[in-house]
Amino acid sequence: MPAYLPTLWSPTNTLPALSQEEIHLWDINLATTPEVTNLLSTSLSSKELEYAHRRPEKLRSRYIASKGYLRHLLGKYLGIPPGEIRYIFGALGKPALSPEFKSGLSFNLSDCGNKGLLAVAYGREIGVDLEQLPRNVNERAIAQKLFSPSEANALNAAEAEKLNESFLACWTRKEAWGKAIGRGIHYPMKNTPLCNQLSEPELQYCFANDNWLLRQFRPDSHSVACLVGSGVDWKMSCFRWTLMTATGAQ
Ligand SMILES: CC(C)(COP(=O)(O)OP(=O)(O)OC[C@H]1O[C@@H](n2cnc3c(N)ncnc32)[C@H](O)[C@@H]1OP(=O)(O)O)[C@@H](O)C(=O)NCCC(=O)NCCS
Repeated sequence: MPAYLPTLWSPTNTLPALSQEEIHLWDINLATTPEVTNLLSTSLSSKELEYAHRRPEKLRSRYIASKGYLRHLLGKYLGIPPGEIRYIFGALGKPALSPEFKSGLSFNLSDCGNKGLLAVAYGREIGVDLEQLPRNVNERAIAQKLFSPSEANALNAAEAEKLNESFLACWTRKEAWGKAIGRGIHYPMKNTPLCNQLSEPELQYCFANDNWLLRQFRPDSHSVACLVGSGVDWKMSCFRWTLMTATGAQ
């Protein structure tokens, strides 16, 4: 049965200082009002806006909120307007801040339904993944195909009512790991055992002679998530951005 680290989300409308030994984690509400959507859309690049307008209306405001809050928060860290943020992309699509900013800041984003999680750190690789419970999937078949035999066996042993949650906890570990190394889900998952002990909410994992830390948590009662960072010397600090909520707009 999965276990989780406790999370306490501190509401704030000012940016807390980010130390080298921290990963900031932002809980973002993507269900924005038309006013907030309009406000956030003003910072999007022409490419992002074009993409937004190709999406069905229901998904459009969610996409704008996700891209807009990302720019809004990264702009705060860099001390520049959100519209001036520029990205570069890894070979498999992992976004990073353009080197012109010389910030040493890394970030990773995951969204699911109306919730987004944004991780931000200095000088380390990070990955985050979020899934909402329950999710209609064939847990055992996916585990058999993608997980190591011992991980699949551990899932097979899960009580029926915990199977979906255990699978999604495991999946968030696998995906957050892949996102931390910039490969998404395109890496040899079967040979990367991260889920043999779901009852331990923290895992140290050695990869390419470096130690990494995985931390499993529940952002709220209907979702599970995992945060991965290179190094083992970091703590997770959790915040909820409230500037736009303070105006009553969200
Ligand atoms: C990245 C990936 C794991 C996304 O999974 P998901 O559950 O749909 O989405 P999440 O919300 O958790 O994460 C999406 C975000 O991760 C980031 N991301 C994209 N590619 C990434 C990668 N290779 N590594 C880490 N992060 C990545 C982006 O910020 C993305 O946000 P966006 O979709 O709004 O641009 C999945 O698409 C994947 O494996 N991609 C690998 C590369 C790939 O297939 N590329 C196709 C073109 S080459």
